[in-house]
Amino acid sequence: MKIIGIIASPRKEGNTAWVVNAILGGAKDQGAETQSWYFSDLDIGPCRGCLCCHNGERDQGCIIDDDMQDLYGAIEGADTIVLGSPVYMGQMSAQAKIVTDRLFAQISPRFSPYYKEKTAKKKMVLVFTQGNPDPGMFRVYFDYTKHMFQLLEFDVGEVVVVAGMREKPAREREDLPVLMKTIGSSLVPEQSPR
Ligand SMILES: Cc1cc2nc3c(=O)[nH]c(=O)nc-3n(C[C@H](O)[C@H](O)[C@H](O)COP(=O)(O)O)c2cc1C
Repeated sequence: MKIIGIIASPRKEGNTAWVVNAILGGAKDQGAETQSWYFSDLDIGPCRGCLCCHNGERDQGCIIDDDMQDLYGAIEGADTIVLGSPVYMGQMSAQAKIVTDRLFAQISPRFSPYYKEKTAKKKMVLVFTQGNPDPGMFRVYFDYTKHMFQLLEFDVGEVVVVAGMREKPAREREDLPVLMKTIGSSLVPEQSPR
């Protein structure tokens, strides 16, 4: 079983990276193969709205030649995607939005049969970290985002919200290692071969 983490924060060693990696660690302990993708290490530009993905040849996908091409492959090859974003101004980060918009190429009507075969119904775990201590503060937005990914046919389970980063960063929180490990373990149905 393959699980990838997409860390859509500009901070490679920030809270989002810590939380996503802790979840992946729990999955790895149960035998999953895991890999982290750090947006900060990648060259991924925003969608240009050229619509080549919709108007070009069937199965063309996105024509932008950047690291998103590798990430498309990783998403296709994964059973589960853990998408982590810090909350910026009450929403996902610009980095997470860029990745989300680039998925548009994968849901082109022409691309659709391929998409359904390769990407749809994959399990997705959405992870948000936020400075505000109230995990319910952005609930409406998190629910909306979950719904949006469900419309893209991802199988989105519980949204993991790690709040209170203003007081204490994730790596210093004593409650998080066990919690995140448990979430990660639960992504692996049974012992799968490494
Ligand atoms: C530009 C910016 C906007 C932010 N907006 C919010 C916000 O609206 N609500 C909130 O609770 N925290 C907000 N934060 C705090 C981050 O969500 C929080 O520190 C997060 O854990 C950072 O993740 P990172 O360490 O992975 O970068 C903001 C931080 C930045 C830099």
